[in-house]
Amino acid sequence: MSNGATVGIHDLSFATTEFVLPHTALAEYNGTPVGKYHTGIGQRSMSVPAADEDIVTLGAAAAAPIVARHGTDGIRTLVFATESSIDQAKAAGVYVHSLLGLPSATRVVELKQACYGATAALQFALGLIHRDPSQKVLVVASDVSKYELDSPGEATQGAAAVAMLVTADPALVRIEDPSGLFTADVMDFWRPNYRDAALVDGQESIGAYLQAVQGTWKDYSEQGGRPLEDFGAFCYHQPFTKMAYKAHRHLLNSAGHDTDEAAVERALGRTTGYNAVIGNSYTASVYLGLAALLDDAEDLDGQAVGFLSYGSGSVAEFFAGTVVPGYREHLRTEAHRAAVERRQPIGHDRYRELHEWGFPTDGGDHPTPAGTTGPFRLAGIAGHKRIYEKR
Ligand code: CAA
Repeated sequence: MSNGATVGIHDLSFATTEFVLPHTALAEYNGTPVGKYHTGIGQRSMSVPAADEDIVTLGAAAAAPIVARHGTDGIRTLVFATESSIDQAKAAGVYVHSLLGLPSATRVVELKQACYGATAALQFALGLIHRDPSQKVLVVASDVSKYELDSPGEATQGAAAVAMLVTADPALVRIEDPSGLFTADVMDFWRPNYRDAALVDGQESIGAYLQAVQGTWKDYSEQGGRPLEDFGAFCYHQPFTKMAYKAHRHLLNSAGHDTDEAAVERALGRTTGYNAVIGNSYTASVYLGLAALLDDAEDLDGQAVGFLSYGSGSVAEFFAGTVVPGYREHLRTEAHRAAVERRQPIGHDRYRELHEWGFPTDGGDHPTPAGTTGPFRLAGIAGHKRIYEKR
C-alpha cells in the first residue's frame, strides 16, 4: 500500500539508435522462419547503434529534452544505470553531466546489476527525495545489448536509453511502498570484463526470470502490497516481448489466478509497442514498457501499474505506481514515436560490420567514422580517452 508519500517519475524521455535491422533481414540471412521472431519471441526489429553512438550518446540524447523542459535547478544527483559500461572506473554519467552542462554541484554515480540497475537507481532517487523533497534526481538507464553473431540471443539484441526526472509531487507516476525483493545467485546471463558480448544460457535465464517473478510477488504480498486485482497494467522487463507474457501467466498461476488470455493481453498489450521494435535495452527495457503504456491512447488517470524489474544473476523487484491524473499533458509521445521512426533501416551485411566494429586498443588517435544524426556523438578515442561532442 502507498505510505502516502508523493514521490515518483515527473518526466520520462527515451532515445534510440541511428539504425534499425528488421527481423525479416535476420531471418532471410539465417534461414529461420520469421514467425519464430515475430510470433515466437514477439520481436519485429532491433535498434543498431552507429559506430559513433554508445551508452553515453544515447543517455545524453534521452536526458537532453528533460533538461530543456525543466532546467537544471534542483538536480543534485545523476544516477546512470547500465550493464554495457564503457569504463571500469569512470561513471558514464560524468560524460552525460558534461554534455548536458549540469552544475558542478552534482553527485554522479553509475549503478550495475544487469537489467535491474535502473530500478536500483530509481529507488536510490526516491530515498534521496524523501530525505529532501526540494531535490530532483536524473536517472538515466542506457544499454546496448550485444550477443554473439549467429547465437540464439542475437535476435533479442537492441539499444536504447530512458531518462527519468524523479521528484516530489510528480506529474506522471507516483511510486509506492512496499517493494517485493528477490535475489538468487544464478549464472543465467553474464559478461566477464574481457568480453564485449554477453554469455547466456537462454532456457536457464527464462526459468530464473520466472523464479524471480514468483519470489518478488511472494515478498510483495508479505510486505502488505496491493492485491493483483488492483492493477490496471503491468510493466515487465522485456528481453523480448513474449517474455512479459510468460512472466505474467506465471505470476497469475503462482498467485492462484486464472490465466484468462484476454485479461493477460489487457494487462500487457499496451506495454510492448516500443520494445517490440527496439529490442532488448536491458536496464531501460521496463521503463520503455512504461513509456509505451503512457503513450497509449487509453486514459490511465489514477490507475495502479505493477512493475517487475529483473536483472540476471539475479536480482528482481516488484513495486507499484499510480498514474497521476492529468499525466497526458506531460507526455512526449510524438518525440518517442519520431525516435523510433527516424531510424534508418540497414541490411544484414552492414549490421554485421557494425556488430564487429571496435576501436583499436593501442592508445593511438582513432577518430570514429561518422554515422549518427543524433544530438551527440562519440568523436573518437585518443590516448585511451573517449572524446564526445555535440553535433
Ligand atoms: N513460428 C512461431 N513461433 C515459433 C516458431 C515459428 N516458426 N519457431 C519457434 N517458435 C517459438 C517457440 O515455440 C518458442 O516459443 P515458447 O517459448 O512459447 O515455447 C519461441 O518461438 C522461441 O523459440 P526457442 O525457444 O526454440 O528459441 P531459441 O532457443 O532459439 O532462443 C531465447 C530463445 C532462449 C529467448 C534466446 O533468444 C536467448 O537466448 N535470448 C537471450 C536471453 C534472454 O533474453 N533471456 C530472457 C530471460 S533473462 C533476462 O530477462 C535478462 C536479459 O535481459 C537478458
